[in-house]
Amino acid sequence: EDIPSIKDVVTEFPVGAAITPVALIGEHGRLLTKHFDSVTPGNALKWDATEPAEGDFRFTDADTMVNFAEANGMAVRGHTLVWHNQTPAWVFQDANGEALTSAPEDKALLLARLETHIRAVAGRYGTRIGDWDVVNEVIDESQPDGYRRSPWFEIAGLDYIRTAFRVAREAAPEATLFINDYNTNVPAKRDRLYDLVALLRAEGVPIDGVGHQMHVNVDWPAVAEVETMIQTFVPLGVEQQITEMDVSIYTNSGESFPTPPADRLLKVAYQYRDLFALYRRYAGEITSVTVWGLADDDTWLDTFPVTRKDAPLLFDTRLQAKDAYWGVVDPSRIG
Ligand code: G3I
Repeated sequence: EDIPSIKDVVTEFPVGAAITPVALIGEHGRLLTKHFDSVTPGNALKWDATEPAEGDFRFTDADTMVNFAEANGMAVRGHTLVWHNQTPAWVFQDANGEALTSAPEDKALLLARLETHIRAVAGRYGTRIGDWDVVNEVIDESQPDGYRRSPWFEIAGLDYIRTAFRVAREAAPEATLFINDYNTNVPAKRDRLYDLVALLRAEGVPIDGVGHQMHVNVDWPAVAEVETMIQTFVPLGVEQQITEMDVSIYTNSGESFPTPPADRLLKVAYQYRDLFALYRRYAGEITSVTVWGLADDDTWLDTFPVTRKDAPLLFDTRLQAKDAYWGVVDPSRIG
């Protein structure tokens, strides 16, 4: 049976998938181009991939992905210019391998490295990458001020965020610039993110959008909480994108199933059904939705938070459409 293309059914906004190099090849590549409007390189644009040593820029995987997207009429979401993970140790060290401190000369060195990196990476792709996750996961709601104590923050305070957006705007003036985070539906975190975006935009920092990762599971969160999340950011006048959606079959780190149980797969489908229906109702606010992987044969959740088989995506390990796919495309066909 020739099933409908997701992108032909969901016309309110582009629908994307995060990709690893294997997603472009053979049957995976055909599935990707049939169903999706855009791709997000899952790792290939991160700092450890693009500048493993200072000034040593590498774009082999990223170029392959951007070329593939272009050849197939797909857009690219750039992920991510600044993060505390997958960033090489040298970024935060001086020439002797000593940790940089918040001293003015150390901070200046860090921000100069940040500027060089963003000019090289965002500048290379120009208009070929339409959206950038400029900073990723900068909120930690357990801190009194809500700011994550990453090396970036410890050395440079909020200036790393200000510099990143200012330089990204210069390097890729046409791109839409996002601040991206997980658990943005959780009220305490959501409100810290709101406050930071409001503060920086009031200063003139060019933040165009908020990215909601949306790594969720079969029991969490309630749709109403996600709706409140979307509504919360409306007064800021920013775009909102769902950037990394997947729906784990697991509800806690103690569970493990050798194969995904039928009742859990059904609940995955219901989450996709209910959340996509919500996104489509808010199409004026939500300007794209990306799932964090093409199919269940390649998902980060197979190794996080523990090693166990998960099934969080729209296609199964044999690339067949799941009930989750029908949750998006035609909920009457679930089950
Ligand atoms: O490239 C090395 C390879 O050389 C080595 O042999 C192998 C052995 O472990 O590791 C490979 O690196 C792995 C890398 O993915 C590329 O496959 C890392 O171990 C692994 O930790 C890394 O995981 C990525 C994870 O970010 C790391 O933080 C996932 O693929 C990627 O999907 C995930 O994506 C993040 C988003 O960027 C931000 N939001 C959360 C999301 C899920 O964690």
